[in-house]
Amino acid sequence: MADRRPLIAANWKMHKTPDEAFRDASSIVEMTQQAVKTVDILIAPSFVCLERTAKALSGSGVALGSQNMHWEAYGAYTGEVSASMILACGCTFVILGHSERRQYFGETDKGVNLKTLAAVEAGLVPVVCVGESLKEREKGETFNVLDRQVQEGLKNVPFKPDRLPVLAYEPIWAIGTGLTATPEQAQQAHEHIRAGLEQICGKTLANSVRILYGGSVKPANIGQLMQMPDIDGALVGGASLEPADFASLANFGQ
Ligand code: 13P
Repeated sequence: MADRRPLIAANWKMHKTPDEAFRDASSIVEMTQQAVKTVDILIAPSFVCLERTAKALSGSGVALGSQNMHWEAYGAYTGEVSASMILACGCTFVILGHSERRQYFGETDKGVNLKTLAAVEAGLVPVVCVGESLKEREKGETFNVLDRQVQEGLKNVPFKPDRLPVLAYEPIWAIGTGLTATPEQAQQAHEHIRAGLEQICGKTLANSVRILYGGSVKPANIGQLMQMPDIDGALVGGASLEPADFASLANFGQ
């Protein structure tokens, strides 16, 4: 099996002011000095917190990401930000196609694809989110939904070995609900996603792509999830808001 470095990512969603982000990112840095040697750690605050968070993370090895971006480089797109803007704030990662973006803001597979292409072109690592709703799972459509989201989202995206896209499997029914997919359910989905990736980029690269699990990841369940062979990390919402909790997630292997 390829040697995939774990990635533990905080998605702070629409929480925290710049001062709070600075304070909490500083605490996380303090509490993850050991973990950062063996695990990639990422914090994705809101756009307005990027600069202050970057200051808190400076020199720490903890990476900064944004939660979204537009695919165009600049232009008349009120309320949007571009890849070069988030890069200038210190981002190296960008979360794309989160289910909340798809559900509440009308993001489509096509839009996710355009953003992913633009992110890779700009030198950012995209974290492309995929996942089925409860209804889709109950109808037995989980794999079809994942196949479509992966194939469409990654269409024509170059797989550069030094900047491989990251995928995040986030079953919508497990986000913020306290319902976690069982490690076996998550593993099944991850394995399926990796098999799909193999069709797109070949076995070697597919084996190097990190697939994160997201959906009610907590200090109490991360250990079991991370034991699964195709789970390479976590994308964490609620439990990332409290620095001690997020640090304990990043410290899962310590
Ligand atoms: P929760 O960890 O709050 O379930 O959120 C998961 C998520 O959406 C991360 O992107």
